[in-house]
Amino acid sequence: MIGGRRGTQRPRVLLLYYTYTGQSLKVLETAGEVFRERGCEVEKAKIEFTDHRFADRFSRFPMRSVWPDMLSVLPAQFRRATGEIRIPDVLRNGEYDLVCVGSPTWWRTTSMPMRSFLKSAEAQKLLTGRPFVVFVVCRRYWRDNLRAVRRLGEKRGGRYVGGLHFEYPGGQVKSLLSLTSYLGSGEYRDRYLGLRIPMTNVQPDQLEETRRFAGALADRFFGTESAARRQKTVHPQ
Ligand SMILES: Cc1cc2nc3c(=O)[nH]c(=O)nc-3n(C[C@H](O)[C@H](O)[C@H](O)COP(=O)(O)O)c2cc1C
Repeated sequence: MIGGRRGTQRPRVLLLYYTYTGQSLKVLETAGEVFRERGCEVEKAKIEFTDHRFADRFSRFPMRSVWPDMLSVLPAQFRRATGEIRIPDVLRNGEYDLVCVGSPTWWRTTSMPMRSFLKSAEAQKLLTGRPFVVFVVCRRYWRDNLRAVRRLGEKRGGRYVGGLHFEYPGGQVKSLLSLTSYLGSGEYRDRYLGLRIPMTNVQPDQLEETRRFAGALADRFFGTESAARRQKTVHPQ
């Protein structure tokens, strides 16, 4: 039996995420492909940020004005505040063998939408007694975010089984220029404010790392069953 469900069913994996520019989703979808290849049933659940104070700014991409938009959530992030979110229905009736939680760092910690979910009664219902894994995407500051998601998930009764984080290329200044250029334009540019800037966002080698990480998780949690399934696919009777 895996995660408390009947062992005869296909393992069920949930990709639970909040994303603003799509990076967390890209990472989780890559992991999801691996789980699917291993015979798992994979479902996605997106947390929506509906808070009346911020929803307008964060429902647009690219941002209309980068610094005012980014700074708008800073005081609330600093207070570790929660806000209004929409939780997809799929979560309310699902039982999963593994929950993958993916989200970005906002002002050095967990984004308000993901924090709000992790403090909800729905999170308690979803995570109690279940293994969960944490994926963090950010420009640089992953540590406090990963720690907070882990701690909140454990408080909701989940069993932390691993984490993966990604930082973006470039040093402190140039990675920030590159990120803000992207957030304000939605495009990858070579130069910004007269300076050459590195790429921002999740890179192909990081997606490869995600595949390896997900493969190791699949071996660990669904090893026997997924191996049998692969054999069936390769050598049909
Ligand atoms: C409001 C806001 C605050 C951010 N604060 C940080 C930060 O403190 N540290 C960091 O490394 N990245 C920070 N970032 C960068 C995000 O983590 C990065 O853009 C990430 O790719 C977003 O992932 P998503 O596309 O899944 O939303 C911030 C981004 C936004 C929009």
